[in-house]
Amino acid sequence: MTRELSPIDKAKFAAAKKAVDFVESGMRVGLGTGSTAAWMVRCLGEKVRAGGFHITGVPTSTATAKLANEVGIEVVTLNEAKWLDLTIDGADEFDGELNLIKGGGGALLQEKIVATASDQMIVIADIAKEVAHLGAFPLPVEVIQFGWQTSKTLLEELLINLDVLGREAVLRMNGDTPFVTDEGNYILDLHLKRINNPRQLALTLNQIPGVVENGLFIDICDVVVIGAGDGAVETRDINAGTVENHRVDVPESDNLFSDI
Ligand code: A5P
Repeated sequence: MTRELSPIDKAKFAAAKKAVDFVESGMRVGLGTGSTAAWMVRCLGEKVRAGGFHITGVPTSTATAKLANEVGIEVVTLNEAKWLDLTIDGADEFDGELNLIKGGGGALLQEKIVATASDQMIVIADIAKEVAHLGAFPLPVEVIQFGWQTSKTLLEELLINLDVLGREAVLRMNGDTPFVTDEGNYILDLHLKRINNPRQLALTLNQIPGVVENGLFIDICDVVVIGAGDGAVETRDINAGTVENHRVDVPESDNLFSDI
């Protein structure tokens, strides 16, 4: 069934479409997770199906692996690819230094491993994701199921001495049962309101036994591509210090990949 795209959908599409320009045939590409990344996977699939363009994709979740297969992208594991040219992924928040909060979709662990194993990470986002200070979006922390309540207590005690405004940790639920990640772990969402020192927080959180990884991406993202609902796109490269503006055609409905 065809669905009209909202302004936010169009903004996400615009960012995704522009970011695909960074991908060259032959590249090994990390494929992010979430609604914005899904547009990117569909746009990449369209280029592959058109012919003369081949990539190897490493998905960051079972959901992205399924979508990549459906749209015709060859999928391999990170162990098979070993290292990637590029990863393109969404984010829940990004700041002026391109530090990120990720994991709203629960895929932060694979996302961080894949992005770190890439020469370049590009984040695709709508403008609502840009913040002066990270932390309004709850920070996901992946913990193993064993003793998760103890990990939660230790996290809340740790936060007392850290430069944040909120300190509540909430177990993520999926209906009546805890949300379980692709690795079989739980997620504690930290309601911090404002993170004044994301670098320190990212390092400190991972020292607690039971914590597998946190959703702060520090010094990992190189480029952010920010889309707007009218097709305007801004591309910021933190390393080159450049800002470029472009425009892409945005569709009115989601019925744009009619060949699959
Ligand atoms: C998935 O775990 C997340 O890191 C997503 O990349 C992030 O939540 C952005 O998702 P949307 O593109 O759906 O906003």
